[in-house]
Amino acid sequence: SVVPGVPRETRVKLVLLGDTGVGKSAIVVRFVQGEFSEESKVTVGAAFLAKSLRIPEHGPDAAVKFEIWDTAGQERYASLAPLYYRGAGAAVVVYDITSPASFEKARFWVKELQKHASPNINIVLVGNKKDLGDTRRAVSREDARAFANENGMAMECEASALSGEGVVEIFKSVAMSLW
Ligand code: GTP
Ligand code: MG
Repeated sequence: SVVPGVPRETRVKLVLLGDTGVGKSAIVVRFVQGEFSEESKVTVGAAFLAKSLRIPEHGPDAAVKFEIWDTAGQERYASLAPLYYRGAGAAVVVYDITSPASFEKARFWVKELQKHASPNINIVLVGNKKDLGDTRRAVSREDARAFANENGMAMECEASALSGEGVVEIFKSVAMSLW
């Protein structure tokens, strides 16, 4: 039954994966707290954060609660990843547009998710640090789009945790795919 005034909330477990330093934690902090901190710390193990997002397109009370696992990208933590992507409804695979090695790592994570995660997981590819794109871009948008298309991914986009550009859109696209 629907109680008036109480949000009709759908929950989704979302995991972020990607090389160390690509900005996964910065994206989550930007989304959850609306800020960017220069003094970021490398994630150890994983961090959990939750945040609800209203989806007015689906009614005044419609909302999605994201249960977010921000994983550690350092190689020594790679074996923990299945603990976090198992049972996840969505995965945000992040690379840094100034780092081809991080794009290679993103490709690795997409393949791993396709092999071992839930078959209907919604995978989003995100090129972060778009603010550095004019001077330091090393991964083209075309290459990212081609990879996303070849792998049937739900969405491909670029974002900047620093400026905030494109960050809410990542989560919004995941939310919209739930309806
Ligand atoms: P791990 O926790 O080790 O996996 O790294 P991470 O992916 O969580 O990276 P983190 O969010 O800690 O960011 C790494 C560095 O990149 C920090 O110095 C951030 O300030 C910087 N950074 C993150 N996002 C952006 C961005 O959008 N633009 C710029 N210019 N720098 C960013
Ligand atoms: Mg981190």
